[in-house]
Amino acid sequence: MTEIDLDHRRQSKAATAELRADVVAGLTAARKWLPVKWFYDDVGSELFEKITQLPEYYPTRCEREVLATHAGEVAALTGARTLIELGSGSSEKTRLLLDALSGHGTLTEFVPLDVSESALAAAAGAISGDYPGLTVRGVIGDFTQPLDRLPGDGPRLVAFLGGTFGNFLPEERAALLRSLRGVLAPGGWLLLGTDLVKAPDVLERAYDDAAGVTAAFDKNVLRVINDRLGADFDLDEFEHVSCWDAEHEWIEMRLRASRALTIEIPGAGLTVRFAAGEHIRTEISAKFRQGGVDAELSAAGFALDRWWTDSRQRYGVSLAQAVLPR
Ligand code: AVJ
Repeated sequence: MTEIDLDHRRQSKAATAELRADVVAGLTAARKWLPVKWFYDDVGSELFEKITQLPEYYPTRCEREVLATHAGEVAALTGARTLIELGSGSSEKTRLLLDALSGHGTLTEFVPLDVSESALAAAAGAISGDYPGLTVRGVIGDFTQPLDRLPGDGPRLVAFLGGTFGNFLPEERAALLRSLRGVLAPGGWLLLGTDLVKAPDVLERAYDDAAGVTAAFDKNVLRVINDRLGADFDLDEFEHVSCWDAEHEWIEMRLRASRALTIEIPGAGLTVRFAAGEHIRTEISAKFRQGGVDAELSAAGFALDRWWTDSRQRYGVSLAQAVLPR
């Protein structure tokens, strides 16, 4: 059974209003920035799928290795009846978990939650076709908004994979984990994927590939603003930059204006000026160490139960359990 609950026009109008607010806030700031979620329209989601296949972009392959090795343990430890996946995207790696949990005999329901309607519809459709007997309830949503409830019977396992956790600032990550903890009963489970700190050149290349796919992905956010808000960004006037911030231990993606530019954004009632070389911060992608992940989880009311990495320690997956509030 597939059930995608949404009202297209309402969703689309609400999204445009939200984009407008984000563009006004981000592009009038002293240091220009944009939230990452606007990358993922249909074109952006497709470009992201291409990124995951690039030789330079190791996280997807490393995470798959960890899941392929440890999904059985996840199933045995959690005995989950409901799997909820945040930011499910194509749900491709999710199949490793679905196979293990169905094999274990406990799983009855799968709830993928994503901002990309097309990615979600494709994934929910494919999965319900391949797992007869599994209830698939696709939810279009933004998990950065406080979660009021999550569907499905317990024990519930929330999977937050792909390293998306790293796209948020530390205080946003704390809020996100607290919100998740708030909707999970004590004993509920969280499976969290995090890219790990490593040599800066490896990291920078992963976010600035030779084929230019990441550059196209980065610039796609300008096209989204052109589309939805009638802006006149010329994508060729911006250069994609990836740089390692050693203090914060995150990769920053930036779009740098090649010369002084004036951009009209009628849908936001805005004229935005760029000095030559001025940039928009379009993404942070934080890289972690086990101790840091452990500390963030405990601060939010989770206890780290297992910590797994790929064979070369490039990527970490944590299995944590919601603990009783003290
Ligand atoms: C997989 C969404 C976490 O930060 O690595 C890939 C997105 N950005 N290349 C990441 C991304 C540029 C990505 N996430």
